[in-house]
Amino acid sequence: MNIIEAKDYQDLSIKAAQYIIKNVRHNPNLVLGLATGSTPKGTYEQMIKDFQQNNTSYQYVKTINLDEYVGLAKDDLNSYSTFMNEHLFNHIDIPHSQTYIPNGMAKDLHNECAQYDRLIHSLGGVDLQLLGIGHNGHIGFNEPNTSFKTRTHIVKLASSTRNANERFFQDINEVPNYAITMGIQTILESKEILLLVSGKGKAKAVQKLLVEKNRCEQFPASSLYAHPHVTIIADKAALSLTFERKES
Ligand code: F6R
Repeated sequence: MNIIEAKDYQDLSIKAAQYIIKNVRHNPNLVLGLATGSTPKGTYEQMIKDFQQNNTSYQYVKTINLDEYVGLAKDDLNSYSTFMNEHLFNHIDIPHSQTYIPNGMAKDLHNECAQYDRLIHSLGGVDLQLLGIGHNGHIGFNEPNTSFKTRTHIVKLASSTRNANERFFQDINEVPNYAITMGIQTILESKEILLLVSGKGKAKAVQKLLVEKNRCEQFPASSLYAHPHVTIIADKAALSLTFERKES
């Protein structure tokens, strides 16, 4: 794992955007895996800024999002589809037809999962997958004890995850109980992975990942140890406990 330390959230966002932009410029047909949540927002802002200033084009890029809530329509205020449109897609030149997010309203959710895997396969796989990490180590919505062999699947969200995401909703009862997520195996099949971690709140998770180095299904992010090309960009706050432990 290659670890890049950022000063703070702003620095992390700039570094992450530069990393992605470099890949897009190198391969204009990039299949780019994307994440939602608070962490990548700044990265997307920087990508938009770069698009406006330097014309980096996404015309031939295809994006594959990690996950979507079950039961929220594409245009629901809290759907990940709306999130991606608002925070990135509406502001760059990517055709919306090349942006893919699981359909949380599909009648047959299991078929939707299988189709999503087929889609990824038909695009030649994900070239670069952006990830965030949950406090409990989840990646995508793969909660602790998810098999490392999973492909796109339906998950029941952990109550800690629902509580963490409550901030985007009016109240906890509105937070969906289920989501569709790329599985861990699907994520690990990406050619390259970029994990972003910011803030003190994630310091324990980072410590668990980088210090314990114990590959176990109780901590989904530890699955990344089986991947040959993972880069982590973490800010000082997120790395605070890791450094404490290393120095003692
Ligand atoms: C989002 C996703 C999640 C988040 C994680 C961290 O698509 O798959 O795994 O990356 O929950 O979320 P934030 O960035 O809000 O702390």
